[in-house]
Formats: sequence, C-alpha cells, structure tokens
Amino acid sequence: MDKKVTVVGAGNVGATLAQRLCEKVLCDVVLVDIIEGLPQGKALDLTEAAPVEKHDAHVVGTNSYEDTKDSDIVVITAGVPRKPGMSRDDLLSVNKKIISSVTEQVAKYSPNSILIVVSNPLDAMCHVAHDVSGFPRNRVIGMAGVLDSARFRSFISMELNVSVDNIHAFVLGSHGDSMVPLPRYSTVAGIPITELIPQKRIDELVERTRNGGTEIVNFLKTGSAFYAPASSAAEMVEAIIRDRKKILPCCIYLEGEYGIRNLYIGVPAKLGKNGMEEVIQIKLTAEEEAALKKSAAAVEELVEAMKKLA
Ligand code: NAI
Ligand code: 2OP
Repeated sequence: MDKKVTVVGAGNVGATLAQRLCEKVLCDVVLVDIIEGLPQGKALDLTEAAPVEKHDAHVVGTNSYEDTKDSDIVVITAGVPRKPGMSRDDLLSVNKKIISSVTEQVAKYSPNSILIVVSNPLDAMCHVAHDVSGFPRNRVIGMAGVLDSARFRSFISMELNVSVDNIHAFVLGSHGDSMVPLPRYSTVAGIPITELIPQKRIDELVERTRNGGTEIVNFLKTGSAFYAPASSAAEMVEAIIRDRKKILPCCIYLEGEYGIRNLYIGVPAKLGKNGMEEVIQIKLTAEEEAALKKSAAAVEELVEAMKKLA
C-alpha cells in the first residue's frame, strides 16, 4: 500500500489500532514495542488474518526503529495504562520518559511524519512529543476528543434509543476530569440535545462522559479502555490519509485561539493530508468559556509539574 503508518506500543490500544487500520485497508502498518516478540507475534497474527479479512495491508512487528523509516503517520500508544484508583495524571513521570525516548527515535527515522499521541496524561504527553520532535503544531496532534465525544454520543444514543449515526457531540478541553462536554453543540439529526433531554438528565450524561475512562478501568481492573480508543485514533489516521478535511475534536497546540496560548488542549480541528489544517473556533457562552479556561489551567499545572521532573 502506498501509505505507511507506525504504531508505537503493541499493547491493547496499539494492537487493536493496527487491526483497525488493516481492516479499513488504509495503509501498511509497522508495530513497535520494547518487549521482544510481542510486536512480531501480533503482526504475524494480523498477517494471518488478512486472507480471511480480505485485505493486502502488510504488517511488520519490530523492536527496531529502522523499520519505521519514512512513515507517513506515527501513532504513539507506548506507555503504562492506569489501574483502578489511579488518575491519568499519576502516569506523568513514567510516561514522560517513555514518550521522550519514543519521539526521539520516531523523529530521527520519519522527520516528515505526522504524530498522533495517545499515551496519557494525553495533553501533557502532546507537549513532550511536540518539544522533543521539534515538529510544527500541525504535525503533532493528540487523540482524546474523538473518544470522549464517542462516549457522549453512545450515552445519548442509549438515552433516546436513536441510531448513533444521527448523533454528533462535542467534547472540548483536557482529557481529564475537567473535560468540557458541550450539550448545546451536541445534536440528534441536527436537533440540539438541550431540546430533547431534560437538563438534569443531560448533566448525568455529561458526568458519565467525564468518568467514561474510569468506568471502564473499574470493570477491567488490569488496564484501561482500548476498543473505542483504537477506533478513535483510526478515525484520525483515516481523515489524514484520505485528506478528508474532517472536523474532529483533537488535542491541539493553541497559539491564541480561544484566548489560550502555548498549550495543548482539546478543540475542534480540521484534519487533512497536512495533519491539523485549521483550528475551528466556535462561539462559547461565558459558562462554557470559563469551563475551558479551568480545563486549560489543569493542563498548565501538569506541564509545570513535568518541568520539575528529571
Ligand atoms: P498497554 O499496557 O496494553 O500497552 C502499552 C505498550 O507500550 C506495552 O506493550 C508496552 O510494552 C509498550 N511500551 C512501554 N514502553 C515502551 C517504549 N519505550 N517503547 C515502545 N513500547 C513501549 O496499554 P494500552 O491500554 O495500550 O494504553 C497505552 C497508553 O494509551 C496508556 O498510556 C493509556 O493511558 C493511553 N490511553 C489513552 C487514551 C486517550 O484517549 N488518549 C485512551 C486509552 C489509553
Ligand atoms: C480512557 O479515557 C484511559 O484515557 C483512557 O479510557
């Protein structure tokens, strides 16, 4: 295939993402991990599924970044997931070191690639990948908003017994407790949910969305969600590879948009062949704006804490 996507981290999210990319017939995939045998085994298993799934994507599993050379897109899922009782922020120190070393290698072998960061704490890890790679902001994007919005969409669908196809939802802000689901911009067949669901119930769905990651961690106990995260990252990869100009909520380095500067945070953005092609600015009420600023302050705090780490 003429596009090459590297997925770093052959764990739950990475391997599921590799499967999605192959089955969408989007690109060849290189799966990298530090554990010897893990990416090789998963890549071979995916290769052996290809005749049944009827696609010709090549999947390579490796422990060497040389195999990732000249990738068009690199998705970083390497790192440690959280366990019950842990917040995403508890992963700051360990994942900072991992994302730094991964980004260094990725940038060396694929200097023109577009990076999609998945590892947590997401907004802070985007800063690490941006700083270490030296890539412009359009080529370092974080995945969280697509997932958080998908969760909100699922809950709206369950509430109204309406096809998920009819539902759009926007979640802004950081991928953490301060995320900002926007009911006014969340619609069912074009109708804002504020006209369809009582406010008290909307508040409950918003809260469930905020706790969506924790809800899964508490069920799984040994790790965090991976099917919906992999689907969400795959949607971003597809938008870029197919140059779809798709507007998706992504973690973007803001340079003054929404009154926020030099900070990664979730906002709607247009994705196409150049990565992040435009930050979409939507009108917020005073209350929504305050919630976004509060979320930005939480990310800022993490970025400051990260500076103090070795
Ligand atoms: P996992 O533990 O199943 O997989 C992580 C993989 O990374 C492991 O195979 C591990 O060996 C590998 N790894 C660790 N250090 C590495 C290095 N230096 N180089 C290459 N590979 C390395 O974890 P899972 O569930 O796949 O989650 C991965 C990350 O994604 C976690 O940080 C998790 O919190 C985050 N995540 C973020 C989401 C988001 O919305 N942004 C959603 C879901 C997960
Ligand atoms: C999630 O939201 C763990 O960030 C991950 O499921």
